Amino acid sequence: MSKLLVINSSPMGENSVSRKLTAMFAEKYQAQNQGVEVVEHNTAEMKLPHLDGEILGAFFTPADQRNDAQKAHVKRSEDLIADLKEADAIVVGSPMHNFGVPSTLKTYIDHIARAGETFKYTENGPVGLVADKPVYVLATRGGDYSENGYPQMDFVLPYLKTIFGFIGLNNVTLLQANGLAMGEEAVASALNQAESDIEAALAA
Ligand SMILES: Cc1cc2nc3c(=O)[nH]c(=O)nc-3n(C[C@H](O)[C@H](O)[C@H](O)COP(=O)(O)O)c2cc1C
Repeated sequence: MSKLLVINSSPMGENSVSRKLTAMFAEKYQAQNQGVEVVEHNTAEMKLPHLDGEILGAFFTPADQRNDAQKAHVKRSEDLIADLKEADAIVVGSPMHNFGVPSTLKTYIDHIARAGETFKYTENGPVGLVADKPVYVLATRGGDYSENGYPQMDFVLPYLKTIFGFIGLNNVTLLQANGLAMGEEAVASALNQAESDIEAALAA
């Protein structure tokens, strides 16, 4: 059975716009791919720990020398990586928080970007180890970071494109809903635009 991995990262629960968009995406994706299994992670609720010395120490300790606490740290990361590798497509809902991704999404990425697991260094530079598959990023933001606004202040889309490419995911479609703090009309128009962008991305 094919799998769609949905990664949400808004702390806004039911009121989250990015979550509404990933749900809309999943519904349209399911209509196109009958029987697809949807697996959801919400980094805002996962309470993943930041990578401290203990966790990094666990990652760098050879498997046969890890103690139980270290094994648990590695298993947490490996389970997340398995979900990523098993998915046939991935959709990420990312609000903009202080010009970047929410800190919980950054922490999730810190757990899945692992040397020897999702990338490796070679004589010719880094190589991603995750088999390529479509990734759709649905980015929500209060201001306007489109070409008509301040794209140079957007560290969400360039970052996500770079890190996914780094682990082997080069087929990344970046969609953005701008102006969500600019009044009801702007919100309605951004959501309409996002819906047609999602439809166009799925038809491509
Ligand atoms: C902590 C925090 C920081 C934010 N920082 C920015 C920002 O730097 N630029 C911006 O345009 N909007 C910013 N916003 C607004 C959100 O990006 C916007 O409300 C977006 O719709 C959030 O998506 P969500 O509804 O899925 O949480 C911020 C919101 C929060 C809660």
